[in-house]
Amino acid sequence: MQTKAVKQSAKKTLPTKETKLPMAAQSSYEPTIVAFLCNWCSYAGADLAGVSRLQYPTNVRVVRVPCSGRVDPMYVIKALQQGADGVLVSGCHPGDCHYISGNLVARRKFAMLKSFLDYLGIEPQRVQFSWVSASEGGRFASLIEKVVSDVKKLGPRGGSAETFRRCHANN
Ligand code: FES
Repeated sequence: MQTKAVKQSAKKTLPTKETKLPMAAQSSYEPTIVAFLCNWCSYAGADLAGVSRLQYPTNVRVVRVPCSGRVDPMYVIKALQQGADGVLVSGCHPGDCHYISGNLVARRKFAMLKSFLDYLGIEPQRVQFSWVSASEGGRFASLIEKVVSDVKKLGPRGGSAETFRRCHANN
């Protein structure tokens, strides 16, 4: 009985139907991307991109985490539920994690999350995982361009992007 109620609640809060935009609207559509970046590598890579004045889309809202292994898959689901059109999780390259194997744990969680997204009816391309080191400002900028372009092709995830923007503005 409770399981049925949880499923019904999930259907209400996680719309599974894709909202496709007409071509003209697609060109002006700007997706919101939430990026969970590990403090030691990817966040420093993003910082380097900024300091180096590399141009990349401004669609990203960065959440700094101690390690990519700290990103609970539910954070990703929650971000999508709250209106993000896509999510990026990025950490140190294998062998460089400050917590030894946090990034490998993150990769395992990510593989599991991909099949869960499929179950929820969310396109797996909306959630991407990558390694970026502190010296790879250029790689970070191109990664953001790729993620934004991939999510733009998919169109809005549906419904609640405005809610997310309001939450972001209030915090
Ligand atoms: Fe960067 Fe673990 S500290 S992924």
